[in-house]
Amino acid sequence: MSILVKIADLDLSGKTVLIREDYNVPLKNGEVADDTRIRATIPTIQQVLEAGARIILVSHLGRPSAGKYEEKFSLLPVAQRLGELLGFDVPLVKDWVNGIDMGDSNVVICENARFEPGETDNDEALSRKMAQMCQVYINDAFATAHRAQASTHGVAKYAAVSAAGPLLINELKALTKALRDPEKPIVAIVGGAKVSTKLTILESLAEKVDQLIVGGGIVNTFLKAAGHEIGKSLYEPELVETASRLIQMADDKGCHIPLPVDVVCGKEFDENATATTKPVAEVAEDDLIMDIGPESSAAINDIISSAKTIVWNGPLGVFEFDQFSQGTASLAQAIANSNAYSIAGGGDTIAAISKFQVADDISYISTGGGAFLEFLEGKKLPAIQLLEEAARVWVAMEQAREL
Ligand code: 3PG
Ligand code: MG
Repeated sequence: MSILVKIADLDLSGKTVLIREDYNVPLKNGEVADDTRIRATIPTIQQVLEAGARIILVSHLGRPSAGKYEEKFSLLPVAQRLGELLGFDVPLVKDWVNGIDMGDSNVVICENARFEPGETDNDEALSRKMAQMCQVYINDAFATAHRAQASTHGVAKYAAVSAAGPLLINELKALTKALRDPEKPIVAIVGGAKVSTKLTILESLAEKVDQLIVGGGIVNTFLKAAGHEIGKSLYEPELVETASRLIQMADDKGCHIPLPVDVVCGKEFDENATATTKPVAEVAEDDLIMDIGPESSAAINDIISSAKTIVWNGPLGVFEFDQFSQGTASLAQAIANSNAYSIAGGGDTIAAISKFQVADDISYISTGGGAFLEFLEGKKLPAIQLLEEAARVWVAMEQAREL
């Protein structure tokens, strides 16, 4: 791994530190529905407090339009959950870009950075304002490292010191370990709604892995490409040819893309829909494929049990509805039972892992969704690139000081 400035390299005593975290968490009825990303940041916050610094936390949540406050994108539920986890109040600051009076608080959190015009455009003026709020900027938001925005990228250019947080560093280490010299056979599972959003990762994995299991809406496009009737199932007609090409390309590289032999169908996309298991050949015109069937699960379990490295992103079916959750539940259990080095990431994947309670038996769970996938593809993440540049500057300055 390249050089990054770490917390341990710095004297943080008495300093004000701005930490960019990724608190883009799912909410339900105004409360945090899954706090995995929040819990992952607690060690960082504690470490920085123990080093004697005061902390200003910055994050985005969702994709609000800039320049207007919308309650449903407020970080208030996050501030509350953080307070519970840390054991003290974490005030939410609504107007923060022109500086904050922290009062008696050692930790405050700024309202959603994407409410600010300029955040998503990586605006220089906003980046400079953020940099002025602190003596040290720490980027700990691995899950947003694929975004070049003011709070993940621009600010790191202008802050006096820009460092990488422990969560971000741990993510890089774990994913690098999994990718550098993975033990074979390697199995990747890519689920989710659309081939189009996962196309580059499917292409890149097809070159690297031995088995590529596709699931969710993605598998429907592949079933269509293989000539099957898929009824009213979600699929992308314009990507059927791409799916055929991928199957062929994978085959040329010695990678197998197994397709389900049985599926679980409903007649409508509804949590009360009746589930019917049938062979793929019997899918009717008015069927919606919402999960894989038990024979397909058994075949996947076999593949998983002989794997030495497993990479998992995306559920295999509509696991939020219990009657269509069997395929994803069985996959989660198979990964948990396996002795392979397993890494998983992505919002839906984390939700599935917590629903099926297998977190303890997965080697590494990334907080990243898009960032996790782009890293697996071998792309350079812009926020990390900037931290590397900042580290080169910092090292040069330290050396100059020693002269
Ligand atoms: C994520 O959840 O992938 C990150 O928080 C980034 O969010 P974004 O896709 O809205 O930029
Ligand atoms: Mg996302």
